[in-house]
Amino acid sequence: MLDHRARMDSSKKEKVEQILSEFQLREGDLKKVMRRMQKEMDRGLKLETHQEASVKMLPTYVRSTPEGSEVGDFLSLDLGGTNFRVMLVKVGEGEEGQWTVKTKHQMYSIPEDAMTGTAEMLFDYISECISDFLDKHQMKHKKLPLGFTFSFPVRHEDIDKGILLNWTKGFKASGAEGNNVVGLLRDAIKRRGDFEMDVVAMVNDTVATMISCYYEDHRCEVGMIVGTGCNACYMEEMQNVELVEGNEGRMCVNTEWGAFGASGELDEFLLEYDRVVDEMSLNPGQQLYEKIIGGKYMGEIARLVLLKLVNENLLFNGEASEKLKTKGSFETRFISQVESDPGDRKQIYNILTSFGLLPSAIDCDIVRMVCERVSTRAAQMCSAGLAGVINRMRDSRSEEILKITVGVDGSVYKLHPSFKDRFHATVRQLTPGCDITFLQSEEGSGRGAALISAVACKMACMISQ
Ligand code: BGC
Repeated sequence: MLDHRARMDSSKKEKVEQILSEFQLREGDLKKVMRRMQKEMDRGLKLETHQEASVKMLPTYVRSTPEGSEVGDFLSLDLGGTNFRVMLVKVGEGEEGQWTVKTKHQMYSIPEDAMTGTAEMLFDYISECISDFLDKHQMKHKKLPLGFTFSFPVRHEDIDKGILLNWTKGFKASGAEGNNVVGLLRDAIKRRGDFEMDVVAMVNDTVATMISCYYEDHRCEVGMIVGTGCNACYMEEMQNVELVEGNEGRMCVNTEWGAFGASGELDEFLLEYDRVVDEMSLNPGQQLYEKIIGGKYMGEIARLVLLKLVNENLLFNGEASEKLKTKGSFETRFISQVESDPGDRKQIYNILTSFGLLPSAIDCDIVRMVCERVSTRAAQMCSAGLAGVINRMRDSRSEEILKITVGVDGSVYKLHPSFKDRFHATVRQLTPGCDITFLQSEEGSGRGAALISAVACKMACMISQ
């Protein structure tokens, strides 16, 4: 009897393995993705092909040679995930350069109707949060310089001016796309009329992360986020940034690589689950690379795989619970928790029972296999992108060994138990001749925005003198 059971289990696992084998990526596949990504990056940088390129390579106006920096208190805003954050950051000058301390902060959750209503509603909500923060800390009378970390694709005209190209990650507020984001914020502050702010800089979260890590390690010339969404920025030679005049020095380019795949570059790798996630999203056909990697989507991919296994009678006795059948119910944090289980299956069992399921030991093992396959593929896909960026930098700098630091932030990178290790190993495998250090950023969005605002303030002073 026992023998029969064991045989049943192992044949079940074999069948599951077979279904999951689609998630496997070979080194050749990753190199293909990397080369295609590099091609799109090149097209994004060139004036002639920029318009049609799927990877937009947006100039940020953050340059390699800052002209010094102001010191003092800065207000940082961070919009881009499920929460909106306000921070007060002190920037000072020491022997080793600038330092920052986050002195006060507050997190506000963004109500669904502010995310998907009108731009006015969203920015009114943001300025209401700022007003609340200033009230709490009795700072309403101060007109502080403000740095805005806005984590969406923005076409900048300057460091404090840029239009939103398109929303991502479940945001959809109407009337924002195509408009100057800093203008929307200034208008909302004016509408309230109970405080004043001097908006001096707007940056992407990748850029803020890179800047905050740069102050710790001057080799940090790449910033990357693997959180709700996924993206990277890096320092490119000005002569290659054709959208901005001038050939001297370097400028930080926000790749917006999450959009990769919009011209079919990933078609051969997309699975039935990816297609469903895409079709059910607010932006079908867009951000396909991000939808394989980002925390907004990874849990949903896993849920769809679980349902497929249930339908094939390989999981939960062929019966799913109502909760498991509900779109979005299996959040990406559950993938992290399942893979953090030390081996006694308790953690997995608890998660599954909270879904109204009664899992057997083998069910727990299968769920873990699913999570591992989905998150490993994400880590590998993400590695191909970063390897593309780093190999490009190595080629353009013609250094024997490129020594470089990558500043990283985001919930998937930070909270998943093995994403980092798998990711680091694959990036290194794909980047011969490069010596890469990964630096985890702490409070990167807030500190980075404050640091760049301090530089922007200095420049503004110099221009007005
Ligand atoms: C956005 C990027 C952002 C990334 C990480 C993407 O959806 O388009 O601008 O950097 O998410 O937050």
